[in-house]
Amino acid sequence: MVRSLTMDFLVGLLMLVFLGSAESGVGPSNSSSSFCTESKECLQFDLVCKTDEYEVRHYSPTRWVSTDAEAYFMGVGAAMAFRRLFQYITGANEGGVKIEMTAPVLVKIPEETKMWEPAVYTLSFLLPSAYQDNPPAPTNDKLYFTDMPDIDVYVRSYGGWMLSVTSRLHAHLLTKELQRAQASYNHTYHYGVGYDSPLKLLNRHNEVWYVAEGDPECLVPVETPAEPPTP
Ligand SMILES: *[C@@H]1O[C@H](CO)[C@@H](O)[C@H](O)[C@H]1NC(C)=O
Ligand SMILES: *[C@@H]1O[C@H](CO)[C@@H](O)[C@H](O)[C@H]1NC(C)=O
Repeated sequence: MVRSLTMDFLVGLLMLVFLGSAESGVGPSNSSSSFCTESKECLQFDLVCKTDEYEVRHYSPTRWVSTDAEAYFMGVGAAMAFRRLFQYITGANEGGVKIEMTAPVLVKIPEETKMWEPAVYTLSFLLPSAYQDNPPAPTNDKLYFTDMPDIDVYVRSYGGWMLSVTSRLHAHLLTKELQRAQASYNHTYHYGVGYDSPLKLLNRHNEVWYVAEGDPECLVPVETPAEPPTP
């Protein structure tokens, strides 16, 4: 009797843990997507709809650790910011905790940059589910936490390396499609989204995201299975 109560309690607890992590939007890498493979946990999403040119995904609220870098070139800014965030997860935090790397890594890229002025790039690492609610405070005051709200994003995927030029090119191609679909999105910035470590050479996966405003648009709706014929 006692044992079965204990079991019930444990099962209940497991359910809570499971539901809790599902709500946080961070989960095991094998449960979400084929392209998020290198880290133990990945950002989870729901596919809203899909065209030949882009996907619309829904993301639940998640917490990230972020830092800004001012630079003339995205690569330079991103490298600087990446180093700071990497130090944070490898122990530069109160408690000296080692935190597992997750995917993806986000770079917030302002849409309008001027050649003669540096732009501010914001890099963010997704906190693993164990640290979503209670991340250790960073020791570097250039780091801060970002709460990403519930959002819909327009996504275009591409392979190879996420360089400044390729990232801008794919952002441009995505905006062309969004214009065609008359989609509303925030025009002031986009995200460069990377899933692979620099050590991975093949089958690399990157994305560009624009944040949808209002109800997202897909020119071609997601194919739904045909209704079974009614006799
Ligand atoms: C994902 O991995 C976990 C732990 O390794 C395993 O228990 C689970 O069944 C896997 N899920 C899928 C969908 O493969
Ligand atoms: C677009 O994003 C910027 C920067 O985050 C924000 O300040 C602005 O309010 C957003 N625009 C709209 C229409 O939501």
